[in-house]
Amino acid sequence: MSTNQYDFGLVGLGVMGRNFILNVADHGYSAFGLDTNQEQVDALKEEGDEDKVDASTDKKVFVSSLKRPRKIMLLVPAGKVVDIVIQDLLPLLDEGDIIIDGGNSFFTDTDRRAEELEEKGIHFFGAGVSGGAKGARRGPSIMPGGSKEAYEVIQPIFEAVSAKVNGEPCVDYMGAKSAGNYVKMVHNGIEYGLMELISEVYWLMKRGMVLENEEIQSVFAQWNKGRLQSFLVEITADIFSRKDELSDADLIDVILDKAKQKGTGKWTSQNAMDLGIPVPTIDMAVSMRQISAIKDTRQKAQELYGLKVTRPAAELTKADLEGALYFAFIVTYAQGMTQLAAADEEYQYGMDMATIARIWRGGCIIRAALLEDMRSAYAKNPKLESLLLDEDFAAKIQDTVNAARKVAAYAIDKGIPAGGLSSAVAYFDAFTSGRLYLNLVQAQRDHFGSHTYERLDREGTFHTEW
Ligand code: 6PG
Repeated sequence: MSTNQYDFGLVGLGVMGRNFILNVADHGYSAFGLDTNQEQVDALKEEGDEDKVDASTDKKVFVSSLKRPRKIMLLVPAGKVVDIVIQDLLPLLDEGDIIIDGGNSFFTDTDRRAEELEEKGIHFFGAGVSGGAKGARRGPSIMPGGSKEAYEVIQPIFEAVSAKVNGEPCVDYMGAKSAGNYVKMVHNGIEYGLMELISEVYWLMKRGMVLENEEIQSVFAQWNKGRLQSFLVEITADIFSRKDELSDADLIDVILDKAKQKGTGKWTSQNAMDLGIPVPTIDMAVSMRQISAIKDTRQKAQELYGLKVTRPAAELTKADLEGALYFAFIVTYAQGMTQLAAADEEYQYGMDMATIARIWRGGCIIRAALLEDMRSAYAKNPKLESLLLDEDFAAKIQDTVNAARKVAAYAIDKGIPAGGLSSAVAYFDAFTSGRLYLNLVQAQRDHFGSHTYERLDREGTFHTEW
């Protein structure tokens, strides 16, 4: 192919990048890749159809091979690398070219980069991509935000490569500035919450009900056929059926119980705090990853306090666990969606909650049958204050809240950690308490610091000489 012929450029030919570019080519667009590593370049060339895909380690060859306005997607590690790549490409670009950051960049970094680049006539937008390596190859969910005009240029390609649900693409314009990164960040916060909840339920089955892995596998597989149908429940069933290749054990039993994290869940919690939006189930999921990391300390503590011996307990049923998990899933989505609505207002993104639920129905890690119901709830009422205030969701919650209470109480009684589930119940109880006990906190504040308080029975600000 001659120069300026390729429809799409992609920087970063790791597994995600390579798969994304092959996906683009499968949909009839020609694509050119750039990577500093010759092996990655060769790997792509080997796998791609040579009429549609080419790659180089040379940024000049890369830039000059792209049709204008150039559409360049970055799939490189979030952070400094993104700035380095941008600075590298910038002198070679022309006005009107578009750079799309497909990584999990922190949203304020995206705002800064967009501002700097718009001054130079280059469009920049952050587009969260979810679905892992398989999603990148076969159809991810894509969350683009930034210049609407630039999005329209890239829209046909994104719609072609994204996952489809009932023919609808799992991509749409999320809003101005860093809306795309913000939505992806909260997606990941919810992802952390759901993963924590599923893992707690696994532990309750293993430590509480003393079920074998095989039975746990079939429970998750069964649940995935019902209202809990979701990607994460599906892969959990898959995980429990895997034998270890290096020993006679089941693989799950030899995996170290220390969870790593790259930061998106923590950012969700941090920013929720900034916005004043409670997301305790997501917070708990982040905290549990942190607790998991201090394994040596946990082991010392176990020696000091002794291992809690639990007996098989007939009183806890699989149906209780299924209901509790469904309840806590809803509460976690509700927390995340409320955070998105607050961020939308604070940062003036112009988001649409029904659209977000729609594009999360397929391709992404938190896809679940529940997303269709969420989309309907927000389509009915775009200004819904909380998913928990929607009538259909209220019915689902009423149906499962007792199971959640029973499981949370059981976990506390037996000393089995289940902070995510308990936090979901506590959140729900506080959220549904028209009257809470924080009047005492106000009194204490006034007592020690003359911070004043308001009253239930009359307007105004009051202080008492205690
Ligand atoms: C996705 C995932 C993806 C990545 C997570 C992992 O939507 O495809 O969220 O972005 O797997 O960022 O995050 P941690 O390493 O923090 O668990």
